[in-house]
Amino acid sequence: MKTSPISLLLPIFILLLFPFPIPLEASPHAHGDFLQCLSLHSPNSTSISQVIYTPNNSSFSSILDFSIRNLRFASPSTPKPLVIVTPVHESQIQATVYCCKTHGIQIRVRSGGHDYEGLSYVSESPFVVVDLINLRSITIDAENKTAWVQTGATIGELYYRIAEKSKTLSFPAGACPTVGVGGHFSGGGFGALFRKYGLAADNIIDARIINADGDVLDRECMGEDLFWAIRGGGGASFGIITAWKLNLVDVTSTVTVFTVDRTLEQNATMLVHQWQSIGHALPENLLIAIFVRKANSTVRASFISIFLGEVDELIPLVEERFPQLGLRKEDCTEMSYIESALYVAEFPIGEPIDVLLDRTPLTRNYFKAKSDFVNEPISETGLEGIWERFYEGEAETAELIFSPDGGKMEEISESAIPYPHRAGTLYKIQYLVYWEEEGIKASERYIDWIRRLYSYMTPYVSKSPRAAYLNYRDLDIGVNNKGNTSYEQASVWGTKYFKGNFQRLVQVKTMVDPGNFFRSEQSIPPFTSKERKSKSKRKSIL
Ligand code: FDA
Repeated sequence: MKTSPISLLLPIFILLLFPFPIPLEASPHAHGDFLQCLSLHSPNSTSISQVIYTPNNSSFSSILDFSIRNLRFASPSTPKPLVIVTPVHESQIQATVYCCKTHGIQIRVRSGGHDYEGLSYVSESPFVVVDLINLRSITIDAENKTAWVQTGATIGELYYRIAEKSKTLSFPAGACPTVGVGGHFSGGGFGALFRKYGLAADNIIDARIINADGDVLDRECMGEDLFWAIRGGGGASFGIITAWKLNLVDVTSTVTVFTVDRTLEQNATMLVHQWQSIGHALPENLLIAIFVRKANSTVRASFISIFLGEVDELIPLVEERFPQLGLRKEDCTEMSYIESALYVAEFPIGEPIDVLLDRTPLTRNYFKAKSDFVNEPISETGLEGIWERFYEGEAETAELIFSPDGGKMEEISESAIPYPHRAGTLYKIQYLVYWEEEGIKASERYIDWIRRLYSYMTPYVSKSPRAAYLNYRDLDIGVNNKGNTSYEQASVWGTKYFKGNFQRLVQVKTMVDPGNFFRSEQSIPPFTSKERKSKSKRKSIL
């Protein structure tokens, strides 16, 4: 990524002029003071005024709503930011960090806005949203198989721009094109290619981040600890990532996709049961995931697959490994890799690929999600207990997604990046419940349904800790205190997402943001001063 010499010097200039003060609690005048601060401390006050939106601005609501994916956090009673900043330059983010810190205002950073709990645009404390929608340039170097992507881009935009340059390169990330690369890559990011190449975060080779001191750092400047932490540990605990450098991966020019639907009457239970021992052990160029949904008066399991290769190679492979599925050639479609990106996102076959550039979500509804990791096959009786819950009224449009692990995921060590769910995992489950009725009563009913299902699953899934995937954020598993949160308290949710890597994340946080400026309900806390003292005492005794 090229940066002009002036823009490289700007941050240093700002910091020399305005060293950081100690954070304060927001004052009643924080809003006005913050705006004044921004215009004073931005290198070009005219340009910053063009990227600031206050509630008095007629575009405020449309800008805020545009990237809200979950309607649970779009109601009039949802806390709104004091200001939205949509930077076009890193120096504007530096000024925002400086002014938020000066005036005791929290900062929330939003890329694609898909956070399941709305943490990128909602806070109980006075806050400013940095919405990265204008920072989304993508530079592909097909020859060296690398790319720089700014964090306001979506994965759909990234896939599209790579395909423009090469039909046999892509990047291993998620299925839904409107997901933002800011949150998605910093929380892990898996999709069609993860059994072959691992997660998005496994394939990041450099990054630019603005830290709590307002410095812009690349990999070399931030050091390997912070670079490790932001690849799977959630970027928002450590700073504002403005760009990623990616290793692009090879894909075949022809891929084959299929969807085979089986209802309970068509032996879905037996098939899902068998798949549990097969899906993770398939060759790494074949992914067969399962979507479970209600279908009229029954439950349907859809086996959705993408194979990096041609149909004539796929059919004998599935016949050998998973004959019970009864896959036929006519179930399969060959297409280019980029067309398959649309297929896995459930666009109809033949849809023009430029829909990948459309940032408007396909659907916007109320939803709640949870996740689990499965290490031992669930018995048929156990599966039947899940299906029973689909006959309850709240499950009409609910879905479960079973994604097999194995392949490359087995080869990467648990501590390579903060995402720890590797060898030994058969598959992960995502539980999703959607609804369209407004109001707290409706929310409570649907959320209660998914919580009851989650509770039913307890004996069948990972234990000690019961693991969860950060990108399927779930505040039910634990949150921080409003004030300081001890290591022990945060471990309740932290070890579920990160297992043994949680401690290293806390160490990195303590090193780079000891004042806990970048914080949220589920941000990595720094060690408290008491914990730091007792640690150093222990060290000196040893
Ligand atoms: P958003 O902007 O809400 O950010 C999410 C979190 O990251 C917030 O805490 C935010 O503050 C922080 N953040 C964002 N940008 C940042 C930056 N530049 N610097 C620091 N912190 C930043 N996952 C998956 O692995 N595979 C999949 O296929 C899918 N599919 C999918 C479909 C749909 C419809 C949804 C709603 C979600 C998914 N996900 C997914 C989950 C997705 O990976 C997860 O919600 C990501 O965090 C979303 O990233 P966004 O940038 O869109 O969200």
